[in-house]
Amino acid sequence: MHSMKVSVSLITGSRSVPLHLLLGAAICIVSSSPVIGQHPGVITIKANEIKTTIQPTMWGVFFEDINMGADGGIYAELIKNRSFEFNKPMMGWKVLGKPVTEGDFLVMNRQSTNTANPRFLRVSLHNNTKGSIGLSNEGFRKMGIKNNLGYDFSLMYRTSSANIKIHIELIDEKGKNIGGTSITTEKSGEKWKKIATSFKASATEPAAKFNTWFEGDGIIDIDMVSLFPQDTWKNRPGGMRSDMIQMLADMKPGFIRFPGGCIVEGFDLSQRYQWKKTIGPIEERQLLINRWNFEFAHRPAPDYFQTFGLGFFEYFQLAEDIGAEPLPILNAGMACQFNSAEAVPVNQLDPFVQDALDLIEFANGDTATKWGKVRASLGHPSSFNLKMIGIGNENWGPQYIERLKIFTKAIKEKYPQIKLINSSGTDPNGERFDYLNGELRKMNADIIDEHYYRRPEWFLQNASRYDDYDRNGSKIFAGEYAAQSDKTVSVKNKNNWATAIAEAAFMTGMERNADVVCMASYAPLFAHVEGWQWTPDLIWVDNLQTFGTPNYYVQKLFSINRGTNVVPLLENNKPVSGQDSVYANAVIDKNTNELIVKIVNVSGKVQSKEILVEGIKKLNENASLTVLKSDDLDEVNSIANPTNVKPTEQNLKLKGKKISLPLAPYSFTIVRVKMS
Ligand code: AHR
Repeated sequence: MHSMKVSVSLITGSRSVPLHLLLGAAICIVSSSPVIGQHPGVITIKANEIKTTIQPTMWGVFFEDINMGADGGIYAELIKNRSFEFNKPMMGWKVLGKPVTEGDFLVMNRQSTNTANPRFLRVSLHNNTKGSIGLSNEGFRKMGIKNNLGYDFSLMYRTSSANIKIHIELIDEKGKNIGGTSITTEKSGEKWKKIATSFKASATEPAAKFNTWFEGDGIIDIDMVSLFPQDTWKNRPGGMRSDMIQMLADMKPGFIRFPGGCIVEGFDLSQRYQWKKTIGPIEERQLLINRWNFEFAHRPAPDYFQTFGLGFFEYFQLAEDIGAEPLPILNAGMACQFNSAEAVPVNQLDPFVQDALDLIEFANGDTATKWGKVRASLGHPSSFNLKMIGIGNENWGPQYIERLKIFTKAIKEKYPQIKLINSSGTDPNGERFDYLNGELRKMNADIIDEHYYRRPEWFLQNASRYDDYDRNGSKIFAGEYAAQSDKTVSVKNKNNWATAIAEAAFMTGMERNADVVCMASYAPLFAHVEGWQWTPDLIWVDNLQTFGTPNYYVQKLFSINRGTNVVPLLENNKPVSGQDSVYANAVIDKNTNELIVKIVNVSGKVQSKEILVEGIKKLNENASLTVLKSDDLDEVNSIANPTNVKPTEQNLKLKGKKISLPLAPYSFTIVRVKMS
């Protein structure tokens, strides 16, 4: 993700066309001739004519554990393979010193006596002194350590010996100790015990390692070796990376879609996401291989597993923390159709349907109910107020519809108020989409989930997609979308300004049609610069830092300037959706009595626009002007240059009820002004 000054070309058919010409071509398709009596370039807003309400859920986020989004990302655990449950039990670990006999470090498997966490490590000591024998953990992509910050170490162990000492230390890239402490275990016999201690780091280091040294004699069994920074979100021990959550909180998202994405479905049914296995004590959450571990041969991630430290309870809690509606997605009795495509026989679907019913009870049920009681025991007696769930991710075909009908009947019977989100497959058009769209509308689906990973020009050409949708039928959730600078799953895709500005243009169309589109979320959300499988992504991180892409700023600006109602914005009596390379929409915020105008200029030239605001007495003479722009469509943000493309804000003086704007080349502009 480095910033490059190159001219961008996109391939259309066999020709390579400069992006700005291509954007121009896209615009010609929708341009219209001026209507007699109106001045070209003059935009009218009818601020007193409410077209529709914008749902508070309109702009949200979609979290999936891809690109080290959870393990190695937002879940702040620093020890990789803490419970020795990866396929290769010692992955991430190295023995330090020289064991006296073969088998001094032995991976044990307690099999049926602990199916959720069968393995542990048996360490045999022979009167060892400090520094003679130990273990080293490399972290996910090493460990990001901060000077002066407290770190919480914990471990589960059992031993029949007395006074085995465990020394722990953090080591910088050059091998220097940058913090640590020691702790002494007690005789525990057959019983597992947990010990914990804390220490402060003495340096900032992006690529640290963790060592533990054993001192004493006898056998000690160890499991759940864990190290967390203390600056987690809301200072919750064993919690989430606060800098990453802050990036989400700053967006004020209306909802969080979770946990996927393809990981809901799994490669096969045995690897599907099962929410019940993600709650309760972390040592009882059964580890699962992450499908992104092996999905792309060109981006293998052999150390990518799901520990579910960020499980369903933490997810509901996170949504509540940042004021977003939870939107869980559940398996529809089908594995990923790109992978094994296994389907559960319909007469064996009950446990899957029950999982959905139980999840609703877990979120909302009274504490007297079975699952409501579980929620209360985890520390949240009050309801999470779940209002919607999705059945299936990118499922398609009659086999999906057949299973969906069974889910729908059962859920609607018990919880008629819960809105259901249904899949329209992987693409926004084509045979599969048409079939599903038809079937779902026949079923009166509450909300249809559309996904589009397409080139920037598609976003421009389709900015009016929802203008002609049925106003009275199913609502639309644009659950996953992102403009691809190259093509889907290409490693060359970049989060450049060309993709972000195209998304902004498209989003004006979604917003204008907020009576049809009730929710939208970019995908995927997070990526670790050294651990990604899929690009582009909204927010990139390394072990110590995060940065928002230009696409992030587009999403954030739409969300924090959501408003409450759409009002007509017209040029020559038509919505502004590509004429003169401009895309625009207007909303009002009834709570603050403000007018908010969003305008995207996808051309490479300055464009002067006059906006006349009708239907109100007065506009305040001071408006705020936010501009996100770059002269170079290939510009990106990066760890080294995190705010290369970022919004700037200034005051804009208005005269009367007119807003005069010179729109900068390749710019997204927001005007916000009080009305009276
Ligand atoms: O966002 C990445 C993947 O794209 C999601 O898991 C899946 O739903 C889609 O194909």
